[in-house]
Amino acid sequence: MKAWWKDRVAYQIYPRSFQDTPETEYPNDGFGDIPGIITHLDDIKELGAGIIWLSPVYRSPDADNGYDISDYYSIDPKFGTMADMERLFAEAAARDIKIIMDLVINHTSDEHEWFLKSRDPQSPYRDYYIWQPPRKAADGSRLPPRLPPNNWTGFFMGEVWEYDEKSGEYYLHLFDKKQPDLNYKNPKVKEEIKNILRFWLDKGASGFRCDVINVLYKTSLADGKKSMAVRGLEHYKSQEGNHAILRELRSDVFDSYDCFTVGETVMVDLEEAKLLCDESRGELDMLFYFEHLEIDRRIARFIPKKFLACRLLEVLTKWQQGLEWNALYLENHDQARIVSHFGAAKKSASPDGKPSPYWERSAKMLAILELTLRGTPFIFQGQEIGMTNFDFKSLDEVNDVESHGLDKLMKKMHIPGFLRWKWIKASSRDNSRTPMQWDGGENAGFSRGKPWLGINSNYRHINYAAQKNDPCSVLNFYKTLIAMRQKSECLKSGEFVPLFANNRLMIYQRKLGEESYIIALNFSSRKARLPKKAFAYLSGAILMASTDRKQLNGHLLPWEGALIKPNLSGCLP
Ligand code: NOJ
Repeated sequence: MKAWWKDRVAYQIYPRSFQDTPETEYPNDGFGDIPGIITHLDDIKELGAGIIWLSPVYRSPDADNGYDISDYYSIDPKFGTMADMERLFAEAAARDIKIIMDLVINHTSDEHEWFLKSRDPQSPYRDYYIWQPPRKAADGSRLPPRLPPNNWTGFFMGEVWEYDEKSGEYYLHLFDKKQPDLNYKNPKVKEEIKNILRFWLDKGASGFRCDVINVLYKTSLADGKKSMAVRGLEHYKSQEGNHAILRELRSDVFDSYDCFTVGETVMVDLEEAKLLCDESRGELDMLFYFEHLEIDRRIARFIPKKFLACRLLEVLTKWQQGLEWNALYLENHDQARIVSHFGAAKKSASPDGKPSPYWERSAKMLAILELTLRGTPFIFQGQEIGMTNFDFKSLDEVNDVESHGLDKLMKKMHIPGFLRWKWIKASSRDNSRTPMQWDGGENAGFSRGKPWLGINSNYRHINYAAQKNDPCSVLNFYKTLIAMRQKSECLKSGEFVPLFANNRLMIYQRKLGEESYIIALNFSSRKARLPKKAFAYLSGAILMASTDRKQLNGHLLPWEGALIKPNLSGCLP
């Protein structure tokens, strides 16, 4: 039988930015909360989603917005209580919506009880984390200026070793210094994690989105190779020990539940991904890779380079054909908004907040892209109404720890301020973290208090309420397209065949048995002539388009995307 998670569309909620209510210990505090999520379950259902991925709601000091957990068994009071969480599970189940939790187990917060205890070298918890003495200097000393245990660099552009005066040792943190890495060579750590998994599965979770899940196991702590990006990766990315941990979690816990896992896999390549998702190995059910969103970026995702539709199609083809099943996404809480990244809303809105001319068309075109690929689509809150990047004025408005780390690093490299700001503005994770734009009222209907992060000034033009009753809105486009996909096995799981691409055009086919679709997308503000040889198969009826045309007539309009029922399948390659 086909797994249920292959038949549903998922919706990611970033709770602090979703909906604030007066119903928690901190009413109207400017942070979204669990009661707020419950008030929107019907909207999520109406959209057509059947899974919610909930970003962390556990207790956390918030050094990295909840991805630094200080207690896996409790809900942070700003989000509500365990009773609220139980109500969320029940209300979601009543609507046949499954909830998957965020599983952050590479690291904890430095305020987690295990770490606090681990600061004592005699404690049984010492070995829960990775503690190391300073490296000996050439003269054999470990005295100041001391050397950290190795030369690795971290994901937030800084150091990975933090010195602890009291015990005279360093601890490892691949992310912020408030996120110490757990030691997976210690079997007790794995047992603790299994208990956490069982706790949430017993409460009603239907699975987990597993944070940076391919870097858990540090095979060695030797120096890393020279690298422009993260140094040391070869000692901990997708190691055999990591595969073994995933298999153990599967056999000891997941196999006893009707649940699934989707891994966030750092810098993963197709070969590693195949091993991680190979059904017979019993590790992950699917994974998020990053390559498609990095085609117009250098050095991970910070420095821009030219967008080429043909490059995008090449990358998509590799993953669509390379893996049996993909987790599909164009946005999440770590990425820029897709209409501002691949779409037409690249520049900030005009001073009156009106979005750029092709904003709506490109938002719909990108919906066609995501919802016509093989796999399980994940839609990030706000994507369904075409939310854009934030119009930050300065770094002071940015909260994200990664953006500040990047600024510091670039300063050290003497990169001029205007360039640093230009790049951070375009790539900052806060672009997608601004509050959900529910309506045109105070704080976009998100909160009656001061929102924790700025509201995009275009909220009067781009908001949920305005789109709900407009049959031509981006929101209703998503709803119709999801409904169409849900009825078509071909769109969900059919074969993916690339047909044509150039710098700004992309055409591909989906097929399953007799059923077939052609998808043609124009990623530019210019009209694009279609290749002659494609005329025949593009002459079919348009089922959905980001414009209101019914026939392509040899060209695509600016930012036009079309889903076509070919009438001449015989002439397809
Ligand atoms: C990936 C998460 O998506 C991101 O938000 C977080 O900062 C890092 N992992 C560290 O947990």
